[in-house]
Amino acid sequence: MKDIVVPQSKAAPPGTGLSIKGISKSFGGLRAVDNCSFDVKRGSITGLIGPNGAGKTTLFSIITGFLSPDCGRITLDDVDVTRLAPHDLFHRGLVRTFQIPHEFSKLSVLENLMVVPANQPGENPITAWLRPGLVREREEQVFQEARNTLAFLGLEKVCDLPAGNLSGGQRKLVELGRAMMSGAGTVLLDEPGAGVNPTLLAQLSQMIMRLNSERGTTFCIIEHNMDMITSLCDTVVVMSSGSVLTQGHMSQIKKDDRVLAAYLGSSAVRALQ
Ligand SMILES: Nc1ncnc2c1ncn2[C@@H]1O[C@H](COP(=O)(O)OP(=O)(O)O)[C@@H](O)[C@H]1O
Ligand SMILES: [Mg+2]
Repeated sequence: MKDIVVPQSKAAPPGTGLSIKGISKSFGGLRAVDNCSFDVKRGSITGLIGPNGAGKTTLFSIITGFLSPDCGRITLDDVDVTRLAPHDLFHRGLVRTFQIPHEFSKLSVLENLMVVPANQPGENPITAWLRPGLVREREEQVFQEARNTLAFLGLEKVCDLPAGNLSGGQRKLVELGRAMMSGAGTVLLDEPGAGVNPTLLAQLSQMIMRLNSERGTTFCIIEHNMDMITSLCDTVVVMSSGSVLTQGHMSQIKKDDRVLAAYLGSSAVRALQ
């Protein structure tokens, strides 16, 4: 990765981080998330793993306001944020990326990043009319920030291409770039490594680590790539059938037979023994 300064924006707020307590969500008769509780400590990189269908993405959708929980409570730095809308959470510095990237496919990569920062004066026709200088100044600032972010992500060469023309891996990087442009102190990444080639994956891990150490960004990462989780995460939470099965350091998680059983089924584990 190029030696590029991590684009700075709002410093990570001090505080305890994200706390999930007793969250449940059913779809019809299916209990997709079942009484889930865990913390994502401020400044940590916390992994969220578990087999497909465990409820990980549903939980992310609840935390970030895309779905409403049936019960439970979510706090961000000790403030109750349960059921807040995604844009309210965005303003409080909590954003997510999607398992399937949600870029504006017809906008250029640069534009995809430039539309993220909130409260741009150009969005208000009165300000745009009365203070064109202010609008230009802020646009230039956002443009530079987007260019720096794309340079950090190694996407400068494709900055003018429609985002929909990029590879799956590059689109994942655009998602990360959009999260960076939001200046959020807490970022939830849903399978950032899926469909990303090994070289890009190593770069992505490095970028996450640098954003964490140099910018103070807190991450919660859903990922199936265990090498990535092991190298990045301080704490790993394992979900199975909607519930938290266990949590701790990856060295402990690896030895836990219940985790293997959750992935493979207990009969497969017995067959391995
Ligand atoms: N919108 C929905 N409507 C009905 N069932 C859903 C919906 N979203 C997820 N589910 C179901 O909830 C369970 C958990 O899904 P999901 O949260 O996507 O798991 P994971 O991300 O761990 O693979 C699955 O059985 C899935 O089919
Ligand atoms: Mg998922």
